[in-house]
Amino acid sequence: MSLKISVRSALPSHQKGDIIVVGVVAGDADSKKRDRPMLDDFDRTLGGALDRLLKKEEFTGKKDQQVSIALSGRIKADRLVVIGLGDMEKLGVADVRTFAAKAARAANGDKARRLVLGLPAGLESHLRAIAEGLELGAYRFTKYMTGDRKPKVELAQVDVCLVGTTGTKGIPNDAHAHVTLGQSTALGVNLARDLSNEPANVIYPDTLAEAAIKIGKEAGIKVQIFNYDEIQKRGMKLLQAVGQGSEHKPCFGHMSWKPAGAKRRIVVVGKGITFDSGGLSIKPSAGMGEMKHDMSGAANVIGMMATIGRLKPNVEVHGIFAAAENMPDGSACRPGDVWGSLDGKSVEITNTDAEGRLILADALAYARVLEPDWLIDNATLTGAAVVALGNGCSGWYASNDAAAEEFQLAVNGSGEQMWRMPLLDDLKDQLKSDSADLKNSGDRWGGSISAALFLREFVGNVANWIHCDIAGPAMGDRVRGWDPKGGTGHGVLTFLHLIERAEQAAAGANHPGAPDSKRSEKAPKKTEKPKKTPKTDKSSFRKKKSPRKRK
Ligand code: BES
Ligand code: MN
Ligand code: ZN
Repeated sequence: MSLKISVRSALPSHQKGDIIVVGVVAGDADSKKRDRPMLDDFDRTLGGALDRLLKKEEFTGKKDQQVSIALSGRIKADRLVVIGLGDMEKLGVADVRTFAAKAARAANGDKARRLVLGLPAGLESHLRAIAEGLELGAYRFTKYMTGDRKPKVELAQVDVCLVGTTGTKGIPNDAHAHVTLGQSTALGVNLARDLSNEPANVIYPDTLAEAAIKIGKEAGIKVQIFNYDEIQKRGMKLLQAVGQGSEHKPCFGHMSWKPAGAKRRIVVVGKGITFDSGGLSIKPSAGMGEMKHDMSGAANVIGMMATIGRLKPNVEVHGIFAAAENMPDGSACRPGDVWGSLDGKSVEITNTDAEGRLILADALAYARVLEPDWLIDNATLTGAAVVALGNGCSGWYASNDAAAEEFQLAVNGSGEQMWRMPLLDDLKDQLKSDSADLKNSGDRWGGSISAALFLREFVGNVANWIHCDIAGPAMGDRVRGWDPKGGTGHGVLTFLHLIERAEQAAAGANHPGAPDSKRSEKAPKKTEKPKKTPKTDKSSFRKKKSPRKRK
């Protein structure tokens, strides 16, 4: 699904569509105080009914206020929805994306095919976030619905209208580029959501690999898949241990984008447990069905690579995932088992439900051989992360403070809710085993941290390692911001921002006189960083015909 989005300088009331959504900045709803080019026209045709409704609902344009009114007469739409944006000065990328997502949801709710979206002056610099929000908000996972449950109408077209407070004004020159960039980004997130939402009888390791192959082909991304034999030959013993108890054997995926002359290499790794029953340390049945989403990290990797294939950044990007189904069976690994690993370290599996860190250990040991500038893993790793941060925020860990600073800027740019957590060394004691180098589960306290400490044992000496525990936000318990209930693709936006920033930094380092930017350079230099909270729209992350050549 991809929307046809056009941008024009026009009044929404003059456009043809099924539904019209208008954003109103705080204080701008009052007809006595303000000239309201977008609302006045509607109020006139409705004989004052709009202003009566706004008054009754005490609508002032505060953030998250929303009123809806049926239209009739000369306006060619069935419904008008007015959404409050809050104060213009406080409006960030997350607010704008959420606003656009609400508009798309309102359109879906109204069975609209064509949406007219009115933006107040000031939002013309946020067209990327608008396009992202529209695509992300319009997302629905309905492929298994039939009859009444099947939506008959899909939102197909959005006409974005830019309106100044005192009249119409022109559209920015690069409006189209920003919209396309936003749509390409959202496409990756929506792909990740689709994969995450698929039930475990449809998506298991082999079919996840097939999805990666298909997406890779479409996006121009190289895809290598290791089957179960290859996994054993290579010595990915922990992936084998986790996966061998299932009829669906494990597999391993490596997707790569390697433009000639790239000066940065970024590797993103995802946990791909297509179903987590807990194994012999079986989970309680309540909520076990949620564990079909336990491959969301891998889904993010695959979705992100689809976007990379579209945007063709001048940065080397690898997407790696380890896929397995964690099931109890006669051939399943047992609590108390001791296994080797790709890294060489031995691990005592004290709890078969702490399987994510096991497959990631082998995936990280594989990934570090690529000598990345950035090694990022993302995983629905621990319930403890959900306890700590709730369902809307992930927890991330960084191997050093410079990496953390840079990652934080990517988080700011994406607007995703992600919070830094500490790698507390003293919790390492929890991972001491009597029979092996490490055991895979500690005690309850600090469960997300001890999982991160376990992973750290397998990253070697890569320059910058980030671990994101996405257990909470990867599977939404309700609609939140631009995210639907169910699979969200949380994380993809931030990883893409990091890649975008790396591309900008490398391009900057290319200028004559700039500090040497050899790939071996570790943490990005302070001087390479663009100013704080860059406008996400000012991106250089555009589609290029051919990658730049190394000078
Ligand atoms: N996939 C789960 C973590 C999870 C829990 C994700 C809830 C999303 C929502 C993971 O494999 C798991 O079972 N972790 C255990 C670890 C424990 C046994 C050390 C947990 O968090 O309870
Ligand atoms: Mn588990
Ligand atoms: Zn799991």
